[in-house]
Amino acid sequence: MRKAFVAGNWKMNTDSHTGVALAKAVASGSSQVAGHSVTVAVCPPFVYLQSVAAAVSASHVAVGAQDLYFEPKGAFTGEISPSMLKDIGCTYVLCGHSERRHVIGETDELICKKVSAAISGGLLPILCVGELLEERDASQTEAVVSRQLKNGLAGLSVEKVSAATIAYEPVWAIGTGRTATRQQAQEVHDFVRKLLQQMYGDELAEEIRILYGGSVKPGNSAELMAEPDIDGLLVGGASLKADDFLAIIDSAA
Ligand code: 13P
Repeated sequence: MRKAFVAGNWKMNTDSHTGVALAKAVASGSSQVAGHSVTVAVCPPFVYLQSVAAAVSASHVAVGAQDLYFEPKGAFTGEISPSMLKDIGCTYVLCGHSERRHVIGETDELICKKVSAAISGGLLPILCVGELLEERDASQTEAVVSRQLKNGLAGLSVEKVSAATIAYEPVWAIGTGRTATRQQAQEVHDFVRKLLQQMYGDELAEEIRILYGGSVKPGNSAELMAEPDIDGLLVGGASLKADDFLAIIDSAA
């Protein structure tokens, strides 16, 4: 049985006060379910990771970073290593979020190095994949997702990949209010799971969690979670409001 997983990606939002307050509200409001029936994580900006980690330390809410660099240390101005994230209490790290792919320009090759470094450094990566609207319209969804998945996990053993979570986030559904329908999401999740089965076998495909992200709200989270291959939700905007995020967590629990 795959345990449900709800993660909040705060992106470049909050400040030192609102971030800690939000984290505390999430920790106290999810105390009945977090860690038991649902894995809960929040992914604040780098500069607030430490204070957020302290704010949730007595709870079952985990902390994730939104990115990392693949080198262990050295002259990489502005970058953050896996061991630095571990050091301050991070468990998870997003890799290849669509905003990093399409706004910052990260390639599959770079993302693969990050996934690999995260796992070697003892972090649990959440590898994000998803197509642009023009790619969906051109019936390229499966080709794009397949390429991102194969390239993003290239060279990793099945043992290493078992540390990963996959997040399907169709780019056209992110921050647009236009959620994929549950059928559209389930179709791609089923495709991803079958691809992972071909690549790594039945056991991994059965165990790995595949999250959906893109305009998830309290009003649509339960129906998305009802689909057999949607194991959790990666939430952007709605994770910035404690009540909304807690309602989403409850719908997944
Ligand atoms: P929204 O929930 O704001 O659409 O963002 C989704 C997302 O990108 C989460 O990583």
